[in-house]
Amino acid sequence: MDCYAVIGNPVSHSKSPLIHKAFSEQTGERLSYEKIEGGLSSFESNVRDFFTKPNNKGLNVTVPFKERAYALCDELTPRAKAAEAVNTLYLNNGDLVGDNTDGRGLVVDLEQNYGVALRDKRILLIGAGGASKGVMLPLLEANPERLVVTNRTLSKAEQLVGRYKGNPDFPEYGDKVFSESFDALDEAFDVVINGTSASLSGELPKISPAIFSDSTYVYDMMYGDQETVFNRWAIRCGAKQTMDGLGMLIEQAAEAFRVWRNIMPDTKEYRSSLR
Ligand code: ATR
Repeated sequence: MDCYAVIGNPVSHSKSPLIHKAFSEQTGERLSYEKIEGGLSSFESNVRDFFTKPNNKGLNVTVPFKERAYALCDELTPRAKAAEAVNTLYLNNGDLVGDNTDGRGLVVDLEQNYGVALRDKRILLIGAGGASKGVMLPLLEANPERLVVTNRTLSKAEQLVGRYKGNPDFPEYGDKVFSESFDALDEAFDVVINGTSASLSGELPKISPAIFSDSTYVYDMMYGDQETVFNRWAIRCGAKQTMDGLGMLIEQAAEAFRVWRNIMPDTKEYRSSLR
């Protein structure tokens, strides 16, 4: 049987085995999917050891190893290159290939599951860390009117935007992507995406509630048993609808499953049961 796993540290909380088991039952693809706690000083050898066994076909990579996985690969997909992070690994003729399905997961969840088309929309992305970096290219590929990146530390937002503005690799996005400081934000967006880790400590980014109007869709890449702190704030400020990152988690897993098995699971069937 082909074997897959998620590697992270800590990894015990990961829902990936549950999701991939459901996908394998649904599609009839026979496979196993385990959790591996990667060593903080031995992640690279853990990955290499995994792929020495012929039945071991693929790894998902989670916190805190996505950048180290990126550095380890022999080949990268364009979206992994853009994200500078890898969440999906497999071998191709002995070469280690890295892909990143996180951004695709976000866009599919927003557009297909929630029906929020991003084309010609004004999007605000809050945060400029790994989570935001991972979704920039798929968001731009969805053809928004503009994508504004804001961050508590403005220089990091400027740096992230600078990778797309004036870059000959991305000529079509240069005039669509902007950085803005928290203080300068004073108007409403069509879609607000929270890619900060502020919710983990129960904090809110210090941004004016003017970013929300009664037609603003709000997506927090975090998720939990209850509405996230950020989404509760957005509702209080009058936003139209809030969504959390559970759907993104399922969709990035489905896209990884497709990359590995060449078959796309039906995520709709599965969403309500996981929640
Ligand atoms: P991740 O990989 O989850 O994105 P990260 O790379 O450490 O983690 O980035 C965390 C992001 O959350 C950053 O954009 C960070 O802002 P800074 O660059 O200014 O540190 C943001 N963040 C974390 N706590 C925050 C808070 N309380 N308010 C606003 N932004 C916060």
